[in-house]
Amino acid sequence: MTSAPANGDGSPPLSLYHLLDPEVLANPYPLYKRLRDEDPVHWDPYLHSWVVTRYPDVVEVLQRFKADRTPTPERLDELGMGELTPIAAVMVQQMLFLDPPKHGRVRRLASVAFTPRRIAVLRGHIHQIAESLVDELVGLQSFDVMDRLANPLPAIVTAEMLGVPTTDHDMLKGWSQDFAEMLGNFQHNPGRAKKTLQSVEEMVAYFHAAVLREDSHPTEGLINALTTAVVDGDRLTDGEVVANVIVTMVGGQETTTNLIGNGLLTLLRQPDQLARLRADPSLVATAVEELLRYESPSQHTARMAPEGAVLGGTPIPAGDAVIAVMGAANRDPERFPDPDRLDIGREDNRHLAFGWAAHFCFGAPLARMEGQIAFETLIRRFPVLALEPDKEIQWRPNLGLRGLTQLHVVTS
Ligand code: HEM
Repeated sequence: MTSAPANGDGSPPLSLYHLLDPEVLANPYPLYKRLRDEDPVHWDPYLHSWVVTRYPDVVEVLQRFKADRTPTPERLDELGMGELTPIAAVMVQQMLFLDPPKHGRVRRLASVAFTPRRIAVLRGHIHQIAESLVDELVGLQSFDVMDRLANPLPAIVTAEMLGVPTTDHDMLKGWSQDFAEMLGNFQHNPGRAKKTLQSVEEMVAYFHAAVLREDSHPTEGLINALTTAVVDGDRLTDGEVVANVIVTMVGGQETTTNLIGNGLLTLLRQPDQLARLRADPSLVATAVEELLRYESPSQHTARMAPEGAVLGGTPIPAGDAVIAVMGAANRDPERFPDPDRLDIGREDNRHLAFGWAAHFCFGAPLARMEGQIAFETLIRRFPVLALEPDKEIQWRPNLGLRGLTQLHVVTS
């Protein structure tokens, strides 16, 4: 793909492609504002997609447009990209890319995994994991929050949730990062595809073995729930179990890591709001919602236009790709008064960070719990926390899954 040239007047053309510029990646909100103000239903010639940035239009796309958008293995073969078929074979079975009635079937069977009892057990474990990770940091003058908490906490919790040994968490994290690099980016990168392919093959083998073990050694987690769930006499195939364990594992780690990292950075940059949370920790639930709105870990997703689609008065041809930018909708002043202000007590905060409608995040209760426990624990255990001076803030070059590579803090 070529880079987007400047307009005749020297101003950069409107394109989501500019997210590749480091300064736009660091702060995409002025670009989102231009899109919302100047062309809220924008045809992006560089991405061959519509880009939608206003709250009601993003809701409309998430509610009515088609999620079935991954090329099938057969289509990849036709396109001469046959080496990627193992990835496509997994993705076409993941709930994220299914429409009704297939989507409802998988989601219903999977929801058995999150019973209130199971959530209560996980809550206790998340507290323990967060405390033990923070125990190792107490006494340090400075540390990297990504490395010591934001990466390992969701990785260990995810292993628990799935029912695989928590000692495998580093391996799960590596696979998940590779898969996320592909999911979150629209620029083609042949080198990355090879790495993702290897990770997908390893993950498929690992989770197939775990599914087979359930017969002789049943576990407590999602793999067991998916393998044994029966609704109206229907059950998932082993291939469907593996594909949906993978999407849950990736969905569960990358985004929650970024909620902790982006959220803490935001609080450290706005010490008045951090002080407010310290003074009243009962605000942690609304604080997490506001941090999700303000620096959404999942900035955008994609759909295909159905027949007869119209967005903001613009007809969208059936089959066209549409990128719904939740990160922009979450700053829409028509929906959120004073949207660029962080207010950890904000009311009426129905943000789109977890999506909307049928594909609304499957793991939202778990993500909220992890975020709340992470912030509550950090604030309680460290009376002083500040950004380490002289350390640059570096955003991951992942345009959809917004997050930091490192976050160095000092404790005195
Ligand atoms: C802060 C953390 C999280 C954020 C911001 C987030 C965000 C999202 C978003 C925006 C979607 C909808 C995507 C779309 O409509 O195209 C989604 C779906 C999904 N999420 Fe999350 N997520 C988070 C945590 C989790 C966790 C912890 C899990 C696993 C337990 C998870 C598993 C999933 C799954 C399986 C889907 C697909 C649901 C479906 O298609 O029906 N997510 N998530």
